[in-house]
Amino acid sequence: MASTHPVYLLFIGPPGAGKGTQAAMLEKELGLKQVSSGDLFRENLKNQTELGVLAKSYMDRGELVPDALTIRMVQDRMQRPDCARGAILDGFPRTLQQASALDAMLAAQGSQISLAPVLTVDDDELIARLTGRRVCRNCGATYHVQFNPPRSEGVCDACGGELYQRSDDSPETVHNRLYVYYKQTSPLIGYYYAHGLTTFIDGSQAIEVVRQALLDAIQPALAVQ
Ligand code: AP5
Ligand code: MG
Ligand code: ZN
Repeated sequence: MASTHPVYLLFIGPPGAGKGTQAAMLEKELGLKQVSSGDLFRENLKNQTELGVLAKSYMDRGELVPDALTIRMVQDRMQRPDCARGAILDGFPRTLQQASALDAMLAAQGSQISLAPVLTVDDDELIARLTGRRVCRNCGATYHVQFNPPRSEGVCDACGGELYQRSDDSPETVHNRLYVYYKQTSPLIGYYYAHGLTTFIDGSQAIEVVRQALLDAIQPALAVQ
């Protein structure tokens, strides 16, 4: 990567679109830290922090955690040294207020978003993906019982950890998460489109095909930094 300025990529897409799967793969390839607001909330819950316990009450209903708490948490995370070269934001921002706060934060440090890839996938496919997802309790790696199974059932390929099902991947919560996405988060597509930052990727293709499509879209954006 030729860039000397920090690079910020922002993955937009409904729950189950593959934001986390793709961000984790591209983190290594691009040398940009994956910052997932959902993972940060789950980490807080694991450590039983006040923020984690509060966030869980929203997450289990498929609602968004209040903006002020979310913004502070992500901004703190982005100040850490491993984000010095930039970050792949996965699941943040999710409201226009979060988007404005991010713009202000980046502007204050003289940087900006490089690209906002939008992963598109139909609802039926999203529901199948979310209800079959399994996550490693130890390292957070993501699998699917059918579309991306681990070598040995219930065991993480990467670290041998135990795989579990997220409590918000129940069919009822998944339906509300989709509703909340279309109502509160999808307006961000218009916001970033108006800034010339969106690129639309067909997220229903195989994981490897989506990865390549993302790389093809991202690399020219990095070259002009
Ligand atoms: P979060 O953890 O961000 O969940 P989400 O947005 O609902 O997205 P997911 O993680 O469910 O989907 P993904 O796109 O990452 O898909 P994945 O790669 O895992 O947020 C959880 C909650 O936290 C929110 O509901 C909210 O309460 C709170 N929250 C988080 N951020 C917030 C914010 N900014 N503001 C306020 N509240 C916030 O893939 C899904 C499955 O599909 C996996 O099983 C995977 O193996 C499989 N898969 C992936 N790609 C493919 C493919 N190409 N083909 C077949 N299968 C695939
Ligand atoms: Mg995710
Ligand atoms: Zn693992």
